[in-house]
Amino acid sequence: NQPIILTPSLLSSDFSRIGEELIALEQAGLQWVHWDVMDGAFVPNITFGPPVIKACRKKSSLFFDVHLMIENPDRYLADFVDAGADLLCVHAEACVHLERTVSEIARLGAKPGVALNPHTPLDVVEYLLPQLEMVLIMSVNPGFGGQKFIPFSTKKIQRLRAMIEEQGLNTHIQVDGGVTPENIRELAQCGANIFVSGSAFFGFPPYDKRLETFMQAVK
Ligand code: DX5
Ligand code: ZN
Repeated sequence: NQPIILTPSLLSSDFSRIGEELIALEQAGLQWVHWDVMDGAFVPNITFGPPVIKACRKKSSLFFDVHLMIENPDRYLADFVDAGADLLCVHAEACVHLERTVSEIARLGAKPGVALNPHTPLDVVEYLLPQLEMVLIMSVNPGFGGQKFIPFSTKKIQRLRAMIEEQGLNTHIQVDGGVTPENIRELAQCGANIFVSGSAFFGFPPYDKRLETFMQAVK
C-alpha cells in the first residue's frame, strides 16, 4: 500500500545546469527530486543552500525532498521552507533536541523527516515516528555520491518497517546511498518505498528510460 517513489539525487547532476536538469526530470516522469545539502562540517563536502533551491523552485513543480547534512539545522529551517522545500529531512546526529526540530519543520509547513547515519540505532526515532512523514536510512556514510551500499542496511530497513507497523503507522522509509536497479527489489522487500539514486540514475540517460529500468526492477 506504500507508493514506490524514485527520487534522483541532484548531487550527481550537472551543477552548471540544475534548472534544466529539473525540467528534464519532470519531462521524464519523475515526481520527486532529492537535494543533498552539505555544509563541510557535518559531512566532508559542500554543495548548495537555500538560495540555489529558491532559484530552482521557480523552474519546477517537482516535490523537493531536501536532505540536510548540516550541523545545527535549526538555524536554517525557515530559510529552506521559504526556499520551497516540500520535505525537510534532518540528521538525528545533528540535533540535540530532535523533537523540537521536527515540530518546528511541521509548524513551518513542510513535511518532517529524520535521517540516520549507517551506525545510528533505530531507537532514536522510535517515539517520534507518529510525527514523521519519512525516515531516511543512510546506506553509505554521507558526503559523496557513488559509494558502495553498506550490506547491514537491509536488516535495518526491515526492523524499521516492523517498528512502524507495530505502531500502526505507514511512515515512508527512504533509502539513500548505493541504490541501483540491481538491489532496489530487495530493498523494497525489506520495507523501503522511497529510493534515492544519484550516480546510478544520472550516469545513465535518457532519464525516462532509466526511471523505467528502476521501476521494472522493483515490480
Ligand atoms: C550521500 C547523499 C546521497 C548520494 C547518493 O551523502 O546523501 O543522496 O548522493 O548517491 P549514490 O546514489 O551515487 O550513492
Ligand atoms: Zn541524500
